[in-house]
Amino acid sequence: MPQRILVLLAHPVRRRSRANAALAEAARRVEGVRLHDLYDAYPDFLIDVEAEQALLLEHDVIVFQHPIYWYSSPAILKEWQDLVLEHGFAYGREGTALAGKSLLSAVTAGGGEASYSPGGLNRRSIEEFLRPFEATARLCHMRWLPPFILHGTHLLEPAALERHAADYAALLQDLRDMVEA
Ligand SMILES: Cc1cc2nc3c(=O)[nH]c(=O)nc-3n(C[C@H](O)[C@H](O)[C@H](O)COP(=O)(O)O)c2cc1C
Repeated sequence: MPQRILVLLAHPVRRRSRANAALAEAARRVEGVRLHDLYDAYPDFLIDVEAEQALLLEHDVIVFQHPIYWYSSPAILKEWQDLVLEHGFAYGREGTALAGKSLLSAVTAGGGEASYSPGGLNRRSIEEFLRPFEATARLCHMRWLPPFILHGTHLLEPAALERHAADYAALLQDLRDMVEA
């Protein structure tokens, strides 16, 4: 059985997006992937918790796709986590709805890889900045997958962006086709 993949896209100004627009378009073309644009669905931030929980139940791999904003995600993804990952649903004694599913962070960062190293401007790697997402996955009994990271978006040439988008699509295909552990 192919794994059902839900990509939750969080980009507040999609018409000005280059990196996430390219990644989202690549993801959209992968059969079996459902792309869900959170800012598009909830421009007023009034998240339909029941609908979002139902979507989660229908999928095996959940992808948080977004640009890195202030070393984290754009605001709507935090709002989504605060409301959708309820006690008794996602965590707590009775909260096992997400158990066994996988979580993938797919992020783009303006800063280059060197800036996310011990001697660089940001000192720490993107993986380290993603620790709250990793911890959230574990609390929700989900498998935390190695993140997909696209560094240095400001200086990315169109051809390189296309290659990264193809890599992202290939990763989603692999996840779709992976055999359940
Ligand atoms: C509000 C805001 C905060 C940002 N914070 C960071 C940051 O903390 N680290 C970083 O590397 N880039 C940061 N950036 C740059 C974005 O990550 C970058 O522009 C984005 O990944 C490019 O993707 P896009 O073409 O889909 O917009 C920030 C950009 C904005 C607008």
